[in-house]
Amino acid sequence: MFSFLKSKPPTTASVADQGVFIEVARGKTLLEAALEQGLSFPHNCKVGTCGTCLYRLDGGKISELTSSAMGLTQEQFQAGYRLACQTLPKTDLTITLDEALKRTQPVVEVGGRVASLAHLTHDIVELRVDLDEPIRFQPGQYAELLIDGVAAWRSYSFANPPHASNASVHFHVRLVPGGQFTGWLFAASRLGQAVRVRGPYGQFGLKPGASPIICVAGGSGLAPIKCMLEGASPEARRRPVIVLFGARTERDIYGLDAFEALKNTWEADLTFTPILSAEPADSSWTGGRGLVTDYIQTIPDIDHAQAYLCGPPPMVDAAEAALSKAGLTSDRIFADRFFDKSRVAAA
Ligand SMILES: Cc1cc2nc3c(=O)[nH]c(=O)nc-3n(C[C@H](O)[C@H](O)[C@H](O)COP(=O)(O)OP(=O)(O)OC[C@H]3O[C@@H](n4cnc5c(N)ncnc54)[C@H](O)[C@@H]3O)c2cc1C
Ligand code: FES
Repeated sequence: MFSFLKSKPPTTASVADQGVFIEVARGKTLLEAALEQGLSFPHNCKVGTCGTCLYRLDGGKISELTSSAMGLTQEQFQAGYRLACQTLPKTDLTITLDEALKRTQPVVEVGGRVASLAHLTHDIVELRVDLDEPIRFQPGQYAELLIDGVAAWRSYSFANPPHASNASVHFHVRLVPGGQFTGWLFAASRLGQAVRVRGPYGQFGLKPGASPIICVAGGSGLAPIKCMLEGASPEARRRPVIVLFGARTERDIYGLDAFEALKNTWEADLTFTPILSAEPADSSWTGGRGLVTDYIQTIPDIDHAQAYLCGPPPMVDAAEAALSKAGLTSDRIFADRFFDKSRVAAA
């Protein structure tokens, strides 16, 4: 009699040719549902900007948070492609994905408390959170953090590799002017503050192979690179590594101790080179100056390498272009862009 009060049943998206079915609860996006079910659905920004989560809609009806047209080319949109992070299915769907979906670690949500906050630079802190229950993740992945009443969920890469208990997780958080979450975090001592953590998310991480590794990081983009190298297997530690760290001035450099320690335990050569883009010309800095992209051109035999890029989207875009120009094919370039809300408006 009161059937109209019952909540609507979930819809199902079936992925053509893959035998995969994604159950999507009402109100969830297709991407949220896929990630919660531990599927490796490609994504990055989750806000409709980067175009990574595109799929082709072959059948069924959807509504969208914002139009997929914002993050896709006109040709893609007209060919029926849509963005999973913006898709709210209205009926069961049939979709096509270029990439084969794999089962990964299912997303869990746990409580925790801020255990420590330490300044790494004037505008980057290391945030340590003690978790009520461990979260399993792969080095290079990220979690989402929520402080009730402060901001919606925000994404931060794990900065320390998984360890026996995984009950303490570390993040490098850069202050974003005008940012809700980071503004709150930097405004006062937050020790003991309750925080919700959910994850793991993302496919960024060291890929198999024996080729040299080039890492290009900007600002807090160093976090997943550090995590990935610290968590590397004994085989991976035989691969030569070049880390280029882009920063504005000397006071923006951090990670020297961590990378010195890595260098001492890495079997092959590992170099960590900070490159400063806005260091005053008359300062005592004797290291690299200019843009990280200028240094990419000086790396020999680049076409045999794998490249890992992480940080602000404009820096990652520029590094990707420089690597392609230097002869590295796109299947050897892996990128994690730290999108924030300003990019939504820019889209
Ligand atoms: C996969 C991923 C991993 C990430 N990992 C890290 C990490 O390890 N470390 C790290 O420091 N960051 C990371 N980020 C970025 C992080 O998730 C946050 O976006 C960032 O910290 C800003 O959060 P905030 O709440 O302080 O700022 P927000 O409140 O989200 O605001 C960000 C900026 O957008 C502007 N803005 C907000 N709303 C609007 C609007 N409507 N129109 C125009 N401008 C607007 C604000 O003024 C501000 O300048 C990652 C992002 C992604 C996608
Ligand atoms: S993850 Fe959907 S557009 Fe970036």
